[in-house]
Amino acid sequence: MNNPIGIFDSGVGGTSIWKEIYTLLPHENTIYLADSKHAPYGDKPQDEIIALSRKNTEYLLNKNCKLIVVACNTATTNAIKTLREDYDVPFIGIEPAIKPAALKTKTKAIGILATKGTLSSELFHHTTNLFANDITVIEQVGEGIVPLIENGQLNSLEMKSFLDVYMEPMLNANIDYLVLGCTHYPYLIPQLLKILPKHVKIIDSGEAVARQTKFILTKNGLLNSSEKESENVFYSNQNQEVLANLLGGNFKAKFLDF
Ligand code: DGL
Repeated sequence: MNNPIGIFDSGVGGTSIWKEIYTLLPHENTIYLADSKHAPYGDKPQDEIIALSRKNTEYLLNKNCKLIVVACNTATTNAIKTLREDYDVPFIGIEPAIKPAALKTKTKAIGILATKGTLSSELFHHTTNLFANDITVIEQVGEGIVPLIENGQLNSLEMKSFLDVYMEPMLNANIDYLVLGCTHYPYLIPQLLKILPKHVKIIDSGEAVARQTKFILTKNGLLNSSEKESENVFYSNQNQEVLANLLGGNFKAKFLDF
């Protein structure tokens, strides 16, 4: 079926997930919503994150989306349960990749960089208790990072200072895995590689989300059987140039006031 997959994030970060989906499912049509006007979600109370997630979902459902990808760790960990209860469409969420990092660590110490909203969520605590009980988990709120990315200041000196400060306690604890628990952060990998020693591996959940999207579409008979080039539409309610830049120039972003 050729109805689009709907994808939303608090802003431009979820494009890192869209790219994984586009790579794995190139014939699926997609609609991406960047709610940049309300970013960051990570500092907001849970009821507000739920209200914003509902608004995004309803917009995408009005566009006849067959499945919704919540391309935001903060919205997933705070709102996906409610969304699944309230709307009759499959939802795919994203959570920090604590489990693979905890299984693979040799130093028995991992770092997690995420928003305050994700790190304080029940779902995050549940996953951490379940899989990382016997290892050291250094949690770090990425305060200030998302607004800089939303302003197109990915490579600024301010960004470098944030990352230097945030990585220090992790390096002192001898982590060998850094989990990126926010969909904006994969865009920081080049900068992080300059700060982290070679033995520290960086992981995120983007590829797993794309695989799960394919699995759920297949299971529900929702895959698009067309071999035509897909249609991919990107909307932002602020700074659509920043969104377009992250898409690498091949796609346009439209302004939409939602
Ligand atoms: N991209 C988001 C995430 O994965 C949220 C960033 C924010 O709005 O605070 O958590």
